[in-house]
Amino acid sequence: MDYNQIKIEPNQAEDILFTLFNIKGKASSLPGEVDFNFRIKVENEEGYILKISRPNENVNYLDFQQKLLQHVETNGKNLIAPKVIKDKDHKSISEITDDYGNIRKVRLLTWVSGRVWSSVNPQLNDLRFSLGEQCGLLTKALQGFDHKEAHRDFEWDVAQSLWTKAHINLFEDEELKIITAFQNRFEHSKTAYDSLRTSVVHNDANDNNVIVSSELINPKVKAAIDYGDAIHTQIINDVAIACAYAIMNHNDVLDAALPIVKGYHSTYPLEEQELEHLYDAIAMRLIISVTKSAINKIKEPDNRYLLISEKPAWEVLKKWFKTSPDFAHYSFRAACGFVTHPNQTKFESWAKTQEFSLENLFPTINKTEAHHLDLSVSSTWIGHQKDFNDLDFFQFKIDKLQKEHPNKIISGGYLEPRSIYTSDSYNKIGNYGRENRTIHLGVDFWLPAHTPVHALFDGEVVCAVNDAGNKEYGGLVILKHKAEDFEFFTLYGHNTVESATKHSIGDCIKKGEKIAKLANYPENGNWAPHLHFQIMLSMLDYTTDFSGVTYYSQQQVWKSLCPDPNLLFKLDALQSSNKTTNQELITYRKQHLGKSLSLQYKVPIKMVRGAGQYLVDQFGRQYLDTVNNVAHVGHEHPNVVEAGQQQMALINTNSRYLHDNINELAKELIETLPPELNVLHFVNSGSEANELAIRMVKANTGQRDIIASEVGYHGNANMCIDISSYKFDGKGGKGAPEHTQILSLPDAFRGKYRGENTGTKYAEEVQKCIDNIHDKGRGVGAFIIEPIISCGGQIELPEGFLAKAYEYIRNAGGLCISDEVQVGCGRVGKTFWGFQLHNVIPDIVTIGKPLGNGHPLAAVACTQEVADKFANGMEYFNTFGGNPVSCAIGSEVLRTVKREKLQQNALDVGEFLKAELTKLSKKFPIIGDVRGQGLFLGIELVDKNMNPLAEQTDYLANRMKDHGILMSTDGPDYNVLKIKPPIVFTKGNAEELIFYLKKILTEDFMQSYN
Ligand SMILES: Cc1ncc(COP(=O)(O)O)c(C=O)c1O
Repeated sequence: MDYNQIKIEPNQAEDILFTLFNIKGKASSLPGEVDFNFRIKVENEEGYILKISRPNENVNYLDFQQKLLQHVETNGKNLIAPKVIKDKDHKSISEITDDYGNIRKVRLLTWVSGRVWSSVNPQLNDLRFSLGEQCGLLTKALQGFDHKEAHRDFEWDVAQSLWTKAHINLFEDEELKIITAFQNRFEHSKTAYDSLRTSVVHNDANDNNVIVSSELINPKVKAAIDYGDAIHTQIINDVAIACAYAIMNHNDVLDAALPIVKGYHSTYPLEEQELEHLYDAIAMRLIISVTKSAINKIKEPDNRYLLISEKPAWEVLKKWFKTSPDFAHYSFRAACGFVTHPNQTKFESWAKTQEFSLENLFPTINKTEAHHLDLSVSSTWIGHQKDFNDLDFFQFKIDKLQKEHPNKIISGGYLEPRSIYTSDSYNKIGNYGRENRTIHLGVDFWLPAHTPVHALFDGEVVCAVNDAGNKEYGGLVILKHKAEDFEFFTLYGHNTVESATKHSIGDCIKKGEKIAKLANYPENGNWAPHLHFQIMLSMLDYTTDFSGVTYYSQQQVWKSLCPDPNLLFKLDALQSSNKTTNQELITYRKQHLGKSLSLQYKVPIKMVRGAGQYLVDQFGRQYLDTVNNVAHVGHEHPNVVEAGQQQMALINTNSRYLHDNINELAKELIETLPPELNVLHFVNSGSEANELAIRMVKANTGQRDIIASEVGYHGNANMCIDISSYKFDGKGGKGAPEHTQILSLPDAFRGKYRGENTGTKYAEEVQKCIDNIHDKGRGVGAFIIEPIISCGGQIELPEGFLAKAYEYIRNAGGLCISDEVQVGCGRVGKTFWGFQLHNVIPDIVTIGKPLGNGHPLAAVACTQEVADKFANGMEYFNTFGGNPVSCAIGSEVLRTVKREKLQQNALDVGEFLKAELTKLSKKFPIIGDVRGQGLFLGIELVDKNMNPLAEQTDYLANRMKDHGILMSTDGPDYNVLKIKPPIVFTKGNAEELIFYLKKILTEDFMQSYN
């Protein structure tokens, strides 16, 4: 039929609407495969959708849809769905005759406002849960409804999906293999599948048929629309369809599917047998989709749109094919709250009746008791990562422990989160950034190499291999056992290759038989000798290996799949200990720690370990740290840790005794400073450094008036607060004290003076402060400022400003203090100290955070003259300042910066990162400014009118945290993201940071500004 003859124009639609429904509205065309659809806008109402069918449309089919909607309206409590509007004659299907004499059916439905799923970014777990919830509610509402048309032949019905077999010739290679495998699986289980519950279901919750609420943060699914594919079929197919589309464009597709299944189950409880078929049903829906695309491609070879829709379906299918069907099944069960592994309860009851001793496993050892060894992320026994990786040292510690507990076997580790798996094979990129396998699934028994290992039960060998490679199993044996009416497996890892591989698959092993012998490194996968013993209720798809460590996010499923070996041994020492929860820590803090101590992030994190540019939480999740300029040369840098530990073991006293370390640190620092600044005082914090600096000012000048910058921060002590506008002009503050003069924030981007050449103008502000002091009849004490103002929002001082300001101050008889607490020690890249960026030499320099790499160490450097005037007879005593331990640490930090060329790294990586951020700002104009030097950078988020976007900045920082990247926000308007990582930060880290910034910047909330 000629399309032009059947086409309906919007103005015709408006006439039809008025004629049939007596409604005046504005029509606009909507895409539709079969019907001509129009969005009808009516003032002050949600509006309608007008559907005009093609000539000769099957009226039964339309009747089915209308009845279905009417049923949903009556039965669907809490459900939003399009409602049927009857025409003037009370008919739900009307008729018109078009200009060519064809009868056309007309239907009017209410409009469901919102956004379609495909336009929502990000699609997070909560949203997918609500998708499941709504689909479940709809299925619930459809119970009891039936119609002849619901039983039609329909290619999109998963139950009928084997029609795709006839088109298998359209595929080749990997695609052919995948499709065939899924079709065979589906066919194979068809009898059981056919017996599952059926009903009429929506059958098409695809990404353009799902309406999402309009909130940009935490939106929810409101409704499913377009009931044209509704059919009477297995209910699980409806779940499968919702999953198949909503998991597209996710790295981990199974992980993305679970909230949907959980949500569905929460409103329409699914049955255990149904979940057995969900994995296959999802695959078959995708196969229908790619087969239809392949057929259409032949029909319309030039239609590129078909290729676009096909791509994500194939991406999911390929990932789905790599997902273990059994693991998916157990994960679905866990999501619905069923016992995760169907045999878990049976195994537990059976294990209760069994009596085993460690002697059964190691009869030659003659020990029945265990001594628990904590190898968790926070274990102080493990100590530094470097120590763990030194296998001789690790063995030495084990031997020592063994001597302390001669009658026990050192063991433990079930479900222990560990951060000792440093090989890349333990990492993946999940839906929320990098993930590493940390949860240990077996128990380790630390015993000498060559210790024989014996079978606990009769069994059959299912795996006997050399699992070679760093941090793998080495010689590995897995046995299958039968107990009552179920089977299970036991795994023995880290044996000699010879003892493991002498077995053949299918060999029968008798209880008590020797099955392997423990190996030493490197043969055992490069570990100190031990047995990794694990129980499994399924082998999943493994044949020559089996995970011994898993992801924290999958812990619940693996826990069931790999039961606790201590169910057999029943030893208290092997019982996993209950650690304090984060909530308990928060509650205690609230009760007993000062209320003004804040916690970072909406969901606070507990960090228990640091390593280079990473922080690690108690579950072993590694966070890339872009915040911590205290851990200057990297968190827990091995040399710095060692320097502190070694000196701590010898002596730690005050500076009234002679000691090399204080002189050494002074020398190291003086080497980095201009010759004028050659006297040092050591203190314990940046605040103390600034406090001392101000005392020096008073002793030198006899004046109390200090000039400081707006939004500057110089520490938490009394005097420091008095000169910190960030505090006294902020919450709880009472404004500038009498003797503090504040100059406008020298911000060339959004400050009082903007653009190029503002240095002189801002320097004039300093002069105004001087004049104010003089007007009050007093003299200038000092001018204190950071070379890049940190809390002010990483504000780079305008060119020429500092030199001019220093000149004015010195003319007025004041001293100049450079607060290098944040930026010092090589961070800014081009120079070692921040003031050197501006070609000035201060009278006093205060040094803090980076100097101790996390240890409380700070210093004040000054000229001989300043020091001499300060030494007016009153002794300067500091109990801790300059102690040998702190000084050993400080010297090692400075040596590490030199040895590892970290200033150069700050420059190289910093410049690369700044250039990438600048590129990002061109793509995302929300980034109004990129600034800073070296690895002390900031990006400022503003709208078109330069208004600060604090909410977006906060959102960005929190979303980056969700992806394992720590960032901090600051600035007077909280709209600056600060980037000041440990200066071991690499180009790769910078690339990762940019990748995720780009990802989050595309999210709806980040786009929601003017
Ligand atoms: C610029 C500046 N000066 C001084 C301090 C105070 O240092 P501390 O916290 O070590 O007392 C800080 C702390 O953040 C700072 O940022």
